Amino acid sequence: MLISLMRRTHTLFLATITQTRAMTTTCRNVDWRWLETTPSTMDSAKELLAARDTNDARPLAVATAHQTKGRGTRGRSWTDDGRGNVALTVAFPSEIPLTPVTLLPLRVGTVVIDALNDSRLSLKWPNDVLLDGGKVAGILVESDGEAIFVGIGVNVASVPTVPSSGSDRGRRAAKVGGDAVAIARSIADGLGAWSQGRDDAMNVITDWSARADWTAELELRETGERVKPVRLLPDGRLRVRGAAGERALVADYLL
Ligand code: BTN
Repeated sequence: MLISLMRRTHTLFLATITQTRAMTTTCRNVDWRWLETTPSTMDSAKELLAARDTNDARPLAVATAHQTKGRGTRGRSWTDDGRGNVALTVAFPSEIPLTPVTLLPLRVGTVVIDALNDSRLSLKWPNDVLLDGGKVAGILVESDGEAIFVGIGVNVASVPTVPSSGSDRGRRAAKVGGDAVAIARSIADGLGAWSQGRDDAMNVITDWSARADWTAELELRETGERVKPVRLLPDGRLRVRGAAGERALVADYLL
């Protein structure tokens, strides 16, 4: 009884410290907001950006300790247990320094993997971050009018269970260790700094290619076919080799 009370007090104490640090933290390159919980940082970012002064051109970063209705690509859900994973959306209110915009998901992948700073990690096209074949981070890009919303989920403290069948099926999850608030800040800062510079297709292709695991086969979601990655094309599509020869893939086909 006493031990359980002490454990609960300790957990509450740690949660309060994280909460205070997350709320009082500032980021150099973005307008940083922390929410204790939210259905999805994608929707919160849209609401908070709409309520902000339209003259404010800074990227808006919205992070939380827990999403109750997080979403992933292709309508899948993205879950966390509220115990220290990262859920972050960085909203760019206007221009981004990159064309074509189809390269943005790849650039976000390189910024995220660099922020995680762990040599065991690699990128799987278009932008999943993998550790020993398990998915550590996922990225979702949405737009609303002029604004672009980049959502990033990173498994830091716990590994969600990913169904192997049904509409939410996907690759098994993995986690990286670390401090969720520091990781969220570092990703937000990296994206903020990137948005203030210049970028081009060749840079993205070089940077992305250097962080990808070219030896790993990919499994096509629709058909289950296994293909080998060959190279990135200038618009971000991936050239692959399968049983029927080579072809280019457009994002969101893969597990
Ligand atoms: C994927 O399916 O791989 C993309 C997952 C993206 C999850 C993040 S968590 C923060 C942001 N809010 C959401 O509801 N989704 C994204």
